[in-house]
Amino acid sequence: MTLKSVGKSAAEIKALTKKYLIETYERYDFVAERAEGMYLYDEAGRGYLDFYGGIAVNSAGNRNAKVIDAAREQMGDIVHTFNYPYLIPQTLLAEKICVTLGYDKIFYQNSGTEANEAMIKMARKYGIEKYGPQKYHIVSAKNSFHGRSFGALSATGQPASACHKGFGPMVPGFSYAEFNNLESFRSMVTENTIAIMLEPIQGEGGVNVGTPDFINGIAALCKEKGILLLMDEIQTGWCRTGKIMCYMHYGIKPDIVSMAKAMGGGFPIGAIVTTDEVAKAFSMGSHGTTYGGNSVCCAAALAQINELLDRNLAENARAMGDYLAGLLRKIPHVVNVRGKGLLVGAEFDAPIGKAVKHGCLERYLLVTLIGDRLIRMVPPLILTKADCDKAAAVIAEAAAEAAK
Ligand SMILES: Cc1ncc(COP(=O)(O)O)c(C=O)c1O
Repeated sequence: MTLKSVGKSAAEIKALTKKYLIETYERYDFVAERAEGMYLYDEAGRGYLDFYGGIAVNSAGNRNAKVIDAAREQMGDIVHTFNYPYLIPQTLLAEKICVTLGYDKIFYQNSGTEANEAMIKMARKYGIEKYGPQKYHIVSAKNSFHGRSFGALSATGQPASACHKGFGPMVPGFSYAEFNNLESFRSMVTENTIAIMLEPIQGEGGVNVGTPDFINGIAALCKEKGILLLMDEIQTGWCRTGKIMCYMHYGIKPDIVSMAKAMGGGFPIGAIVTTDEVAKAFSMGSHGTTYGGNSVCCAAALAQINELLDRNLAENARAMGDYLAGLLRKIPHVVNVRGKGLLVGAEFDAPIGKAVKHGCLERYLLVTLIGDRLIRMVPPLILTKADCDKAAAVIAEAAAEAAK
């Protein structure tokens, strides 16, 4: 839909949004009408350089032609029919993902939160059936983010934040340990613990990278205790950090991996992958979803994953991530640049994050804000050095203005 096609002005759309939508987001002050590659275009046709990529979703570029074609073609056959018949797109996608990552089985969901919900449920059922009714405790990290349904929210180690506050008691059976502190995790593991759940890089929590000692130590701790390692790759997965999955940087293999975001290239899909042994926990009727494995989403996701892999966008993410980080480090007021590949956080020496974000917006660059000092960049992985140069120049200008 465009303003022209619906016969409305930008002001009318903004007013109707304010009137009817329950708003939990701070909107950018423009109507996004079109998207292509590295750009999002507003009502006046102005292009915004997209360094948030639908929040780490549009990794093969906004409206990637192959993804769109695959979805269009699938819509000519079947849009949705539920999981009773055998379905070609979901089968081919399952094969692609399982063979690429070296896992036995996949279960489809519609989002990251749901994928994590499935991961938590699978771990609990595996533990309870294998070891007894008390074996359901999960240790996750402080400052983590795993989603907003009650299970995923309970795993989210931010009890004082807006995402927890006011929602009443969380689901029991979760403890939070210090990220990057192996001893803290070790101290939380009890005889009832079935799993440790982690993001390899905390995205929403402020782009905190898991150190090799920590992630390898956690994998070893899980082996030692005979418990599962649950890896949330929803933000880090599918080439963003310079490897297909971020855990691959560490040479470990989690027991269950959750994924979403970049997997679908803009179509809502999430999934977990695991081994035959752990997958057995989900028996007939124990878990399900109406839309999970939807034919159009699966066809689009298959095209998206082929694009990411065939064009080796993990390597571009690595190279451009290094280049961008180098540019950001030279910007006055930037005191810390962290991340891996194209999951990048730039921290300022003062609480000017919001002003910098708005300064970028005025200069047609889209970044996201975490806390009051950090901007996060998760652009499409197709970006070039010229895109990085442009973004860094804008951030430098916005930071200088904000710091005045
Ligand atoms: C690491 C991580 N897990 C889970 C989620 C939730 O995913 P979704 O918003 O698709 O439900 C997010 C979203 O930002 C995330 O970054």
